[in-house]
Amino acid sequence: MTTPVPAPSPSPGIRSFLADDDVSSAEQREILELAARLKAERHAERPYAGPQCVAIIFDKPTLRTQVSFTTGVAELGGYPLMVDGNLAKIGSRESVADVARVLGRQVSAIVWRTFHQSDLEGMAQWSGVPVVNALTDDFHPCQAMADLLTIAEHTGGLAASGPALAGRTLAYVGDGSNNMGHSYLLSGALAGMDVHLGCPPDFGPRPDVLARAEAIARETGAHVSVHEDLRLAVVGADAVATDTWVSMGQEGESDKREEVFAPYQLDSALLDLADPEAVVLHCLPAYRGKEITSEVLDGPRAVIWDEAENRLHAQKAILTFLASARERARERG
Ligand code: NVA
Repeated sequence: MTTPVPAPSPSPGIRSFLADDDVSSAEQREILELAARLKAERHAERPYAGPQCVAIIFDKPTLRTQVSFTTGVAELGGYPLMVDGNLAKIGSRESVADVARVLGRQVSAIVWRTFHQSDLEGMAQWSGVPVVNALTDDFHPCQAMADLLTIAEHTGGLAASGPALAGRTLAYVGDGSNNMGHSYLLSGALAGMDVHLGCPPDFGPRPDVLARAEAIARETGAHVSVHEDLRLAVVGADAVATDTWVSMGQEGESDKREEVFAPYQLDSALLDLADPEAVVLHCLPAYRGKEITSEVLDGPRAVIWDEAENRLHAQKAILTFLASARERARERG
């Protein structure tokens, strides 16, 4: 679908969170500290009081993201306006640019789960309001933020001086080319963590994303690496994460993927290579007996329910951060 005129210049001060590295390392830390504060004091911030509407749109299935964003917007004093992606058919019934201009005249922010990262970028360009990535094929930055919060909590890291993630090692095994693989690389590097991916040949991260993570790692003192031998990725890790082998939209490739990924299962023997205190993360939904065994997922080192809850706190912090940026821009005139 074509857009008739060139995109407008970005509105000054309007920030979006489309990928993990849309925030600096210091800003990521600020968001994590705010998330920890909001976890302790759920109604401490009300930047969407009014209530201001936040449009929440899903073009793919959801449970955690819908619940955590609707709850989160309400707790921030706003009104979570669910827009049915199946009815709106953004990009086919009408262009992203046209939808963006309609929404941008009415709502204070837009949260969108869709397929193409470029559509999300179009929404941010044309709407003139903050846009949050609630998962695309390329990135899942809200999940990664929640995961960093969870790792920090469980590695003794939410001290007064902030989340102590720098120098920790995060291992991710499975599909390095999917949204979680990409987001762990960028967010972990921003946090100064060593991020090790263990993935089959042809399922490593996209080269441009890996290059972005390497550039960030050079700045933060982190180290990122990709291994075909998943044991090399996991050895000594402080946190071990995995994700489905078949992401939403890839259902047609299930048989082939299950064959390729079978040796990349997270089981107890693999976990034994990690640090003895290592925590296990999974963004859910999980497929027991596929990417992870029940023994590990339901075992004592899994922190998946904390991780799922932390979506709420992390996303409230992200929305608060974006509202503050908008307010600062307004004050500057
Ligand atoms: N990689 C998964 C993440 C689900 C939260 C997917 O995109 O389906």
